[in-house]
Amino acid sequence: MTDKTVNRDDAAANEAQIAVLWQEESYFKPSQSFIDQANMKDPDIRKRFGEENFPECYREYADMLTWFKPYDQVLDTSNPPFWKWFTGGKINACYNCVDRHLDKYRNKAAFIFVSEVEDEPPVAMTYQELYVRVNEMAALLRDYCGLKAGDRVTLHLPMTLDLPITMLACARLGIIHSQVFGGFSGKSAGQRIQDSGSRYLITCDAYWRSGHLIDHKEKADVAVQEAHDLGQEVDKVLVWQRYPGKYSAATPMVEGRDVFVNDLLKQYRGQRVAPEQMDAEAPLFLMYSSGTTGKPKGCQHRTGGYLAYVTGTSKWVQDIHPEDTYWCMADIGWITGHSYIVYGPLALAATSVVYEGVPTYPDMNRPWRIADQLGVNIFHTSPTAVRALRRVGPEEPIKGPQHFKHMTTVGEPIEPSAWRWYYEQIGKGQAVICDTWWQTENGGFLCSTLPALDKMKPGSAGPALPGVYPVIYDEDGNELPAGSNKAGNMCIRNPWPGIIQTIWGDDKRFVKTYFERYCKNPDSKDWRDWPYMSGDGAMEAKDGYFRILGRIDDVINVSGHRLGTKEIESACLTVPDVAEAAVVAVNDEIKGKVPEVYVSLAAGSKASSDAIVKAVNQACEDMIGKIAKPSRVHVVPDMPKTRSGKIMRRVLAAISNGRDVGDVTTLANASVVEDIRKQVQG
Ligand code: WTA
Repeated sequence: MTDKTVNRDDAAANEAQIAVLWQEESYFKPSQSFIDQANMKDPDIRKRFGEENFPECYREYADMLTWFKPYDQVLDTSNPPFWKWFTGGKINACYNCVDRHLDKYRNKAAFIFVSEVEDEPPVAMTYQELYVRVNEMAALLRDYCGLKAGDRVTLHLPMTLDLPITMLACARLGIIHSQVFGGFSGKSAGQRIQDSGSRYLITCDAYWRSGHLIDHKEKADVAVQEAHDLGQEVDKVLVWQRYPGKYSAATPMVEGRDVFVNDLLKQYRGQRVAPEQMDAEAPLFLMYSSGTTGKPKGCQHRTGGYLAYVTGTSKWVQDIHPEDTYWCMADIGWITGHSYIVYGPLALAATSVVYEGVPTYPDMNRPWRIADQLGVNIFHTSPTAVRALRRVGPEEPIKGPQHFKHMTTVGEPIEPSAWRWYYEQIGKGQAVICDTWWQTENGGFLCSTLPALDKMKPGSAGPALPGVYPVIYDEDGNELPAGSNKAGNMCIRNPWPGIIQTIWGDDKRFVKTYFERYCKNPDSKDWRDWPYMSGDGAMEAKDGYFRILGRIDDVINVSGHRLGTKEIESACLTVPDVAEAAVVAVNDEIKGKVPEVYVSLAAGSKASSDAIVKAVNQACEDMIGKIAKPSRVHVVPDMPKTRSGKIMRRVLAAISNGRDVGDVTTLANASVVEDIRKQVQG
């Protein structure tokens, strides 16, 4: 049994499941009042971005930016699949997000920070203040740390304004920032420090989460040790204080290594640092993401193409105007936050809300109070959040005072019933919804309705964005005809400006992961021979709308967070008594999918099942982070295996999901399947 067969089974199960549960839905239309004010209402836009105008059409996005030197060429495809965008152009991302707005919007809020502690009033930071803070931080990075363009710095920061200030200060100097999601463990941060070759770690002492001021500095100590063990030394750990002047962590500072950023900044008060004129192709940041192997990949995003793409899509899909107050509830530690809390909205001079804590703290109505207090009119969240809010207070939002013109969902498929609740209760039937499909590697949205032009269809991400031409392949590499309603592998035929340049330090893995399978001719210089493979299953309906069915590879999407099953398995295998581990995705009403773990023990192990379960949970938290904790851990006598010794994860997934295990007679140890089924299902 090969992986291919496993994939096909999953696609088939998905297709059947969806056909039953998700009927073709009727359309919803945007209101006239939305259409009247929308940024993009040209019905010919898709024609303008038609294939015959590719790649020149993307000038429209690039022209939304301010360039120090204009680019010579839109797209250079001379070395597939290493595309180059807007070559010859010189640009600075920080300048575009901050400096260029000063003339017009100096005293308008760039960010509004909302503490999880409701008694602490929101803090608005104007574009002028942001400019000052970013310049001072850039001076510190340059003069205290000695950092320069092209160096990498690892950030492990939670949702406070220190994070975007640090990112923008890096961008100002051309330093490549690599922000690690704050919820990830110290060990994860350490691995990413090592992979990116960072000599500095920028972190904080503490932050609020679910009512607790948690010690974050302790993770820095683990991270530095892990990086050291892997061969990378960290010179200094820069620590932002959650409350400047007061140290809020129990873990002590390490003398000679740890310094408080807010103390150091005093030396740089009033300093201004000229934004570096970066090549359009200079890397802007790394964002580590899970893949099919245990090692996360450093998705390397370019400056010009990325910024152009997130700006264009923020304008046309998010419909962001400078006068909007926009709130994306994602975490800046994920790509959604980079593109659609920081870079996209700021490039458009919007006011972007940064909320520190969990949406449900102290109660389910917190999001609506925040939205009302700040006058949020564009709201952006995940289906998991929608489902969680619905479960607790299905009728509550409608009573709330919020008035959204626009709402986005991202990160996972949203089932029609949750979509309709979002539309009716949260949007009060007035807001448009954009179900946006994309990935860390993509930089920005690939599929979504254009809110003033396309009708909404619950359960479908919608058509491809202008300039994006998808194709769905079956397992044998045949193109499924457009509108076939058949499940296959979602690919994009053409390059677009937001796609990653490569995987940091691993060009081979980049080619192998995204292009090898469907490349028509490895020697070809024609982009048409190099479709991008997304790793998602999808089907295209007759109307050209795409339904995303979920991952076809070893990635689990938990609450819209991407986790690699191999990463979790590797974590389980660090428990001494565990001989084998297999992780499967199990459907979950709220989170979409959750990881369930099967482990078998080394011969002669005397450990109790309870002890193993505890140790496995702890290992997942230590090695990856709390989000990777399995929903259940099963200690089984043996794993179902093929005759060649491969663990049959498909069989385990069927058991966990209460599905038929299918024909298992060819397994090397078929009898174990029934034992496991009884153990798991009772
Ligand atoms: C899934 C998040 C269905 C998909 C931006 C993809 C979605 C993975 C949607 C990427 C959507 C994202 N409908 N599924 N609208 N958006 N996904 O890299 O499986 O964290 O491959 O990027 O999330 O997750 P990532």
